[in-house]
Amino acid sequence: MAVVSDTKTPNLRCLKAAFLAMEPSNCLISLARRTSGGSLTEEVQNFILELCVNSVYVLRREENRILKKISFFLPSGIDDRSSQRNLVVSLYCSLNLLEGDTGCALWPSCLFLSEFILSYPKLFSDKVCFEVGSGVGLVGVALAHVGASKVILTDGDGSTLENMKCNLELNHLRSGKVQSRYLPWEFAAESELLKYEHDCVLGADIIYDPKCVPHLIEVLRMLLKSKRTFILPEEKEASVAYLATVIRNKETFNYFLRAAEEAHLSVMDITQDWQPLNLLPYMLSYDRTSVCLYRIS
Ligand SMILES: C[S@@+](CC[C@H](N)C(=O)[O-])C[C@H]1O[C@@H](n2cnc3c(N)ncnc32)[C@H](O)[C@@H]1O
Repeated sequence: MAVVSDTKTPNLRCLKAAFLAMEPSNCLISLARRTSGGSLTEEVQNFILELCVNSVYVLRREENRILKKISFFLPSGIDDRSSQRNLVVSLYCSLNLLEGDTGCALWPSCLFLSEFILSYPKLFSDKVCFEVGSGVGLVGVALAHVGASKVILTDGDGSTLENMKCNLELNHLRSGKVQSRYLPWEFAAESELLKYEHDCVLGADIIYDPKCVPHLIEVLRMLLKSKRTFILPEEKEASVAYLATVIRNKETFNYFLRAAEEAHLSVMDITQDWQPLNLLPYMLSYDRTSVCLYRIS
């Protein structure tokens, strides 16, 4: 996890962050025009040229993975440790979405969930956090940044898990505090799920395949049974889940809601009341309005 200090020119800072995040070229051009008030001024042209020459984009060719650097622009005072600094997360991501590499791509819901975590750090600091369907692992880096006491990242796809481990290493997070585990929802055992005594559960873009919905609900039901025991029994606290999702297919989402109700899980839409800060202002390809946030208990 690299933390860099702000550059002096905010507009050029955005353009640089967009380059490093490997934003699509049409978004880069729009941002460059916006930066220089409509036309591409010489200053901006020189800046772009220098960026192109100096930036090192590392491509792991054998696996079709590209290195993106995602910069979260943290405002001062958001938490005690991060005033006026960016959080820059390096992530190997897939270029090969169409051939079953979904967990190695960066989805808008995990950008949104990471912004949510960084915007409301107190919800997660000193907490044990358990994520399902973690993909590239960005949410785990955000949780570590806000001081979660332990982070358990899980995924049911072997190559996704390997890529995630590589990303954790890249961000210097392969310590005992952030762990990665193989967890296919279909074979999840309650004893395995509850052994971490987690306080909260997270998930980004995991509601999309109707075949997986019953298994996902069962995993959430088991995870949300977890109660941390404090000194007195009445001090037991139920865990909550925060799920960010883009609703691409309404029928699948309604199926998820019905299955949740049958499992006695309460699903509350908190998108409006808990809007995260816009920490990725340069990322024109990211449509934050497409993402909804649910609290499940
Ligand atoms: C659309 S990706 C989202 C990844 C990441 N959370 C994000 O938002 O960038 C869905 C993730 O769920 C995982 N997944 C899908 N079905 C699963 C299952 N049955 N068991 C465990 N993980 C599963 C995939 O491997 C993938 O990492």
